[in-house]
Amino acid sequence: MTAAAELDVYAENMFGFEQLHPRWIEACARYLRHIFGSSIEGKLFLDYAFGRGNWSLAALRAGAAGVVAIDAAAGNVRRFSDYCREHGIANIEILHGDILREPVRRSADILWVYGILPCIAAPDEFLARLSALRRDDDALALLYAYDRGSLRQVIVDAARQGVTYDSEHSFAADSYLFTPKARLRARDDLTAPLVTWFSAASLAGLAARQGMVPLRQCPDFRDWMTGRTSEEFAPHHLVCGFQGSGLDNVSEPERPQAGDFAVLGAMADTVMARANSEARRKLAVGLFNTHFSALSPGEAGDAVIEDFLFLMHAALRLEISPSTFDEQASFYVAAALAAARDAPRHLSAARLAASPLARHIEANTLRF
Ligand SMILES: C[S@@+](CC[C@H](N)C(=O)[O-])C[C@H]1O[C@@H](n2cnc3c(N)ncnc32)[C@H](O)[C@@H]1O
Repeated sequence: MTAAAELDVYAENMFGFEQLHPRWIEACARYLRHIFGSSIEGKLFLDYAFGRGNWSLAALRAGAAGVVAIDAAAGNVRRFSDYCREHGIANIEILHGDILREPVRRSADILWVYGILPCIAAPDEFLARLSALRRDDDALALLYAYDRGSLRQVIVDAARQGVTYDSEHSFAADSYLFTPKARLRARDDLTAPLVTWFSAASLAGLAARQGMVPLRQCPDFRDWMTGRTSEEFAPHHLVCGFQGSGLDNVSEPERPQAGDFAVLGAMADTVMARANSEARRKLAVGLFNTHFSALSPGEAGDAVIEDFLFLMHAALRLEISPSTFDEQASFYVAAALAAARDAPRHLSAARLAASPLARHIEANTLRF
């Protein structure tokens, strides 16, 4: 399959059933005003990889004079063009394009680069080409990137070892296996040809290499809406300019449960490596369902425990002994096996202090 056809499939899987609606656009517009303030007024806004087109519509609502919306998926272009025609929206120019394949002969004051960097294999080249679309050095850009080291990364990377969908048919067939919350993530993170992750520092470094000046970090849209900071996934939002001096350093998401995330990642890698391809596929779907169904807004705690119990069950089925796991994970696996007999777990005071997962294993008898 060509890369363009692969993208069309991805877009169809992701957005085939999505609907734009005024309440959503209004919330997006308020978020844009939060990020850019009144500086968005009268500006030309480039919505690169617009997907459904919500940010394009929101930019107009937030005061932009016009929008150039570009996406490489023909289905997205068709759906959004139909929408704009039906709603009499004239000042959004919708283009079918891929800046990595052919030049885009447009320029804009605000470059909105949201949800696309995770899909890009050559981010330096991509950003170099995007930067060249700024009207002048007063332009601003917003770069969004998935956060490396998050619990979300553990789950997505593990599941992608078991299954990715490269046709509409294959995802459609499996879509019934997913719980609703897991399906919404699977249609994106398991159908994307590629998913990449950045630390805040590596994103700022990427921007700087391409002549951008990191100015400020912004909260995630959902976190900003709900007033909660997600412990599970904290994508980076970096506003950049093109002149002057910027941030001396960028802050990374706070991740007090990082040790538990690393244990889950190590367990998942071992389990996936020991399973055959059919079992890996099922493990991927099961892990997605387990994780996204256990996730409460803002919190990672229950999901960490449920993910661990899921992986413990897999380890037992696959007859993986505790010593097969890496040093940290093997402590938890051995302690969990002891917890099933309500025997002493031998978890150190330091580990208990640092790890909610260790405290759960210490305080509960476990069943697999
Ligand atoms: C996760 S979606 C994000 C869509 C939208 N920006 C949003 O925030 O909802 C990724 C989008 O990138 C588009 N895409 C992927 N690679 C692209 C490329 N090289 N050039 C343009 N669009 C691309 C896909 O078609 C899809 O619409």
